[in-house]
Amino acid sequence: MTSLPPTLATAVVQWQASHGRNHLPWQQMRDPYRVWLSEIMLQQTQVTTVLGYYDRFLQRFPDVASLAAAAQDDVLALWSGLGYYSRARNLHKCAQAVVNDFGGAFPRSSALLATLPGIGRSTAAAIASFCFGERAAILDANVKRVLTRALAYGEDLSQAKNEKALWLKAEALLPTQQLEVQMPRYTQGLMDLGATVCLPRKPNCLICPLQPQCKAAAAGNPQDYPVKTRKTKRSSEAWWLLIAVDAQQCVWLERRPQQGIWAGLYSPAIFDGRTALEQAVALQWPSAAAANELPAFLHVLTHKDLFLHPVFVPVGTAAAAGSGEGGRWAGVAEWAAMGLPAPVRRLLDEELGA
Ligand code: ADE
Ligand code: SF4
Repeated sequence: MTSLPPTLATAVVQWQASHGRNHLPWQQMRDPYRVWLSEIMLQQTQVTTVLGYYDRFLQRFPDVASLAAAAQDDVLALWSGLGYYSRARNLHKCAQAVVNDFGGAFPRSSALLATLPGIGRSTAAAIASFCFGERAAILDANVKRVLTRALAYGEDLSQAKNEKALWLKAEALLPTQQLEVQMPRYTQGLMDLGATVCLPRKPNCLICPLQPQCKAAAAGNPQDYPVKTRKTKRSSEAWWLLIAVDAQQCVWLERRPQQGIWAGLYSPAIFDGRTALEQAVALQWPSAAAANELPAFLHVLTHKDLFLHPVFVPVGTAAAAGSGEGGRWAGVAEWAAMGLPAPVRRLLDEELGA
């Protein structure tokens, strides 16, 4: 009896069982709420960082109903520091949709999951394959890298038709048997390969289970994949942060608009120049003491470099009267529990923290 070389799916599944990651808190479990939460957190954040947030989030919101009933401020506060806050706003909206439109239970197909806020096609497939053994393909950035290399798929993925063709190839490669067991392993295995073996600059082909069948490894050019021509153009902005500090060491924090950078989070007032900031101080706190401007620092967002100029302004006692208008005075104990952008929290803790 001749033995055929293993298919890509078999190689991934077998490798995952012995070499993949199998002890993360959201594995070995088929609760869609917990799996969904982990997938959203893991979208732009490393596993080690997510570990610190995941348990805390679940303690506060143990099920989809408790999350749906929460105030957005509380959800953002628990997300604070993870970044990409649209994930947290969509998470909240998604929980409400599950409760209002699906009777409180996540739908059990990738097609329906993909209709929910914040759940794209790949995330829907991941949840459905992990929880329900559905035969659905994932194709996040890591998996695109693995599959384009294994197949030597060199078409430009910034063109929709090529991306679509890759989805079809990804679907054709899925396991065909014992889906309840194999789909979770396969999905996790592709993620693990992308995260630990088939790395962007240094693919470790020598230990890769796909090496015997990988076309890019055979040609010696894995780094040429994936092909993506469209460059996301980066821009930069300078922001002056007016950190008004009253006599009790409370700072004035304003709620950011629901759209744009740091949407829905609390931040000191932001100005696009020093002059505008100084004018605002002169108008609101004419008797403020001398401002203390700290060195500017860079905060990197997805499409933008932000140069933050923190300016601490002691505004005296009278200020403590003011409140409302989408803002509030907060002391260290209060801002600890509020949703603040990570660089703002760091600044406040370093300069004013207990
Ligand atoms: N990234 C996205 N989903 C993941 C998962 N389930 N395990 C590890 N990394 C991931
Ligand atoms: Fe990536 Fe190398 Fe494995 Fe091919 S053999 S999938 S290039 S790590």
